[in-house]
Amino acid sequence: MHNPQLNAQGQLMHLLSIEGLPREVIVHILDTASSFLKVSTREVKKVPLLRGKSVFNVFFENSTRTRTTFEIAAKRLSADVINLDVTRSSTAKGETLLDTVDNLVAMHADMFVVRHAASGAPHLIADHLRRLGRRDVHVVNAGDGRHAHPTQGLLDMYTIRHFKKDFTNLVVAIVGDILHSRVARSDIHALTTLGAAEVRAVGPQTLLPAAIGKLGVRVFHDLRQGLSDCDVVIMLRLQNERMNGALLPSAREYFQCYGLTPETLALARPDAIVMHPGPMNRGVEIDSDVADGKQAVILPQVTFGIAVRMAVMGILAGN
Ligand code: CP
Repeated sequence: MHNPQLNAQGQLMHLLSIEGLPREVIVHILDTASSFLKVSTREVKKVPLLRGKSVFNVFFENSTRTRTTFEIAAKRLSADVINLDVTRSSTAKGETLLDTVDNLVAMHADMFVVRHAASGAPHLIADHLRRLGRRDVHVVNAGDGRHAHPTQGLLDMYTIRHFKKDFTNLVVAIVGDILHSRVARSDIHALTTLGAAEVRAVGPQTLLPAAIGKLGVRVFHDLRQGLSDCDVVIMLRLQNERMNGALLPSAREYFQCYGLTPETLALARPDAIVMHPGPMNRGVEIDSDVADGKQAVILPQVTFGIAVRMAVMGILAGN
């Protein structure tokens, strides 16, 4: 089936999801990010790749890391960046998403970076642009509902590759609220495409999707078994804002059963790395001693996110 993110020549037109992206495209993005990593350490932190281009950050949901690192990445590529303040935009007066997009296209937007609570919103915009014949305007999904967060998935893969070099022998445990997590879905697609030896989904029955096994993961309901001898631990936040009704007795009991502590982390390999997409809830899914400990690579994830987002925008719209 044709992947709507790719053109007939297999080039990336939009980044909407990691699902269906060929391995070579993922590796090309990671390799390009490697070449951008040094830009952030120079005295002049800029390259001219997107000079003259306008990138619109359109975030309908809260964000600290993704919105800011997209803005930094676009500025380091010399783009003009416009952060639409959705709370003060005409969306609040009833303007539709596509009418907003049409108006921003009329302002000569070259790229939209979109976060939306509705799964599929970035796809809708990309499809709309295709129908308008605007192949020169690109869409990057910055997180849509519980569907996908592809640049988080890519920066997670960059981080794993940086610390572990090769995916083929790795056991990766993704722990927590996988049911509501777009990050988990993107990570699972990326890890299976890159050939990780084993991807584990660890969490209570109520927080795992019914069809999780079809994604090629091993399911564990017991944290200790799920962490046993793994190389990478990816912790997830309880996404209370997406839960309908109580799926857990209490945050305290959740921490007792699924919280990552120095004691439970000791079940993983001694050189295991601990990741978290953020925002973290200390004392709910992760203990502070682990979050701030020497195995945590949570802040390097954020730094790598700039290079990965530079790579994605440069590949999509680079001069
Ligand atoms: N990881 C992530 O998406 O964080 P933000 O919600 O702060 O962007």
